[in-house]
Amino acid sequence: MIISVTGTPGVGKTTIAKLLAGILGYDYINLKEFAVSNGLGEPYGDEIAIDVERLPEVARKKLKGKNAVVDSHLSHLIPSDVVIVLRTNPRVLGERLTERGYPRSKVADNVEAELIDLILVEALEFNKRVIEIDTTGKEPETVVNEILNLLNENTGKQVGVVDWSRYYDEVVKYLHVRGENENQ
Ligand SMILES: Nc1ncnc2c1ncn2[C@@H]1O[C@H](COP(=O)(O)OP(=O)(O)O)[C@@H](O)[C@H]1O
Ligand SMILES: [Mg+2]
Repeated sequence: MIISVTGTPGVGKTTIAKLLAGILGYDYINLKEFAVSNGLGEPYGDEIAIDVERLPEVARKKLKGKNAVVDSHLSHLIPSDVVIVLRTNPRVLGERLTERGYPRSKVADNVEAELIDLILVEALEFNKRVIEIDTTGKEPETVVNEILNLLNENTGKQVGVVDWSRYYDEVVKYLHVRGENENQ
C-alpha cells in the first residue's frame, strides 16, 4: 500500500510521514530523493527541479507492491492508494516559515498556497481517496492517531475540514503586494 503525505511546505509532512511509517512498519520515502536517484532531478539555481511529467510513471513502476509512506509536496502526483493532505492555519504557517528563515517571497507563495487550498484541490484532481487533516495546535502523535483511525475505515475519506478564508486579514501581511519586487 502506498500512502502519500502531501501539503504546503512547513505543515509537518516529514514529521508525520516518518512517525506513520514507523508505526505501520512501512518504508519511508522522501520523494525528492527518490526522484533525484531515478534521474528525474535537474539542478535549478540553488534548488532541484523535479520532472513531474515522468515522475508518476517511474514511481508507479518502482513502488509497485511496496508498503511505503511517501513524503513530499508533490506526493499527490504519484499513483497512491491514499493521499493524506496535511493542513495548517496559514497564520501559524507564516510564522513557522519566517522562523525557518525562508525569504519573504517564498513565505508569501506558501502562505497563499495554503490559504487557497492549492494542494488539496490538486490532490482531489488526481486521487480517489483523499484524507485531509487539520494539524493546527495538535501534537504530531495526535495527528498520526487521526490518520490511523481513518485508514482503518476501509473507504475512509475526509475533505472540507478547514476554511482559511476567515484568516485572510491576519495573513495578508505575508502575501505578495502588487508591484513588489519578487526577489525580496
Ligand atoms: N501537529 C504537527 N504535526 C507535524 N509537525 C508539527 C506539528 N505541530 C508542530 N509541528 C512542527 O512543524 C514543523 C514541521 O516541519 P516538517 O515536518 O519539516 O514539515 P514539512 O515536511 O511539511 O515541511 C516541525 O518543526 C514540527 O515540529
Ligand atoms: Mg519536509
